[in-house]
Amino acid sequence: MKIAVLKETRAGETRVAASPETVKKFIAMGAEVAIERGAGEGANFTDHAFQEAGASILASASETSAGADLILAVRAPAAADFARFGRGQKIVAIVSPHGAADILNAAASAGVDLFAMDLMPRITRAQSMDVLSSQSNLAGYKAVIDAAAYYGKAIPMMMTAAGTIAPAKIFIMGAGVAGLQAIATARRLGAVVSATDVRWAAKEQVESLGAAFVTVDEEAMKGAETAGGYAKEMSADFQRRQAEFVGKHIAKQNIVVTTALIPGRPAPRLVSEEMVRSMGPGSVIVDLAVEQGGNVALSRRGEVIDVGGVIIIGFENVPGRLATDASSLYAKNLLNFVSAFWSKDSKEFIVDWNDEIIKGVALTRGGEVTHPNFAPRDPAGQNSPPKE
Ligand code: NAI
Repeated sequence: MKIAVLKETRAGETRVAASPETVKKFIAMGAEVAIERGAGEGANFTDHAFQEAGASILASASETSAGADLILAVRAPAAADFARFGRGQKIVAIVSPHGAADILNAAASAGVDLFAMDLMPRITRAQSMDVLSSQSNLAGYKAVIDAAAYYGKAIPMMMTAAGTIAPAKIFIMGAGVAGLQAIATARRLGAVVSATDVRWAAKEQVESLGAAFVTVDEEAMKGAETAGGYAKEMSADFQRRQAEFVGKHIAKQNIVVTTALIPGRPAPRLVSEEMVRSMGPGSVIVDLAVEQGGNVALSRRGEVIDVGGVIIIGFENVPGRLATDASSLYAKNLLNFVSAFWSKDSKEFIVDWNDEIIKGVALTRGGEVTHPNFAPRDPAGQNSPPKE
């Protein structure tokens, strides 16, 4: 059983899908591991470290993936790159399948079985495979550190002989995994922290971290969570009232970090241009949702801009700004996923197509897009049955 790890090809992708630690574990499980030369460079994992862990280093993507049963990647290959892969090869990656029909079709045409780590069901058994959590947690931390770096004042209160510095006020919008880590980080830096979310469960979590919870309507929040723990899109009326309420709060903040997402939909617009302009000069906004359309009016993907003295940070791939940790945790998510379907007898990855986890993450199988949310529908509106 050969596992291949390719060098990422997407611009700005610093992460890698294996760490020396996970390579060692795969080899102990009885796998062979091939890594493309330089794959770990952006994450500070050298070829030498991978070799010491037992991997072989190969010169190109084609050589590395040739004969591999399982290919591990951070981002799914681009549609054009699927020509390199053969029937029955399995690729596990972050796919962002909403709006990626070209990748799904290319994988199906190549006969590749593609699995999306970002579709991992949020069940207890899959917690250690939850890539959205492992990466969002780091992004939430880094967002506050980035904001502090651009903020021209100190964050904590300081009482000195020369006078007292007031603590910074930091407001976190969206209190999921990223938001909760942003709150914890801002608190550690000594800021006065407040946060908001639409899910009722978030209120207690925010308060338990020592931050104040800001909302216009607690009753409306009680139905705002799906069974999977994600936010629903709120009514236009709630959004209008919440925006008005939150707008007054934002005008008094020094730093705002937005993290709000709704799976499969564009990010909700939470901070209007008027709200941006209501903040004092030197204030900083970090839009962690910029790649999903942005929570903040005016934020620009991949850029840091100055709007009348207010800095808006729109870095892409924020977990990739902590590439070593992000790679280590992602590699561990992959190891846990592969281990869950590893046959100790035959020492190979055996997919149980009826398992809840596989049903959640499997996108293509045997030449077809099979995931119920992404499969083409027949005229009667039924999904085509998966091929045996
Ligand atoms: P996410 O990345 O999809 O969204 C981030 C946050 O934005 C969420 O808290 C969401 O409620 C919030 N949001 C959406 N629309 C908003 C709006 N208009 N205004 C303010 N906030 C808004 O969510 P994430 O971080 O992936 O976590 C969602 C939930 O899933 C959390 O409760 C988390 O604890 C839970 N979870 C459960 C896991 C498990 O059971 N295995 C693993 C990871 C997370």
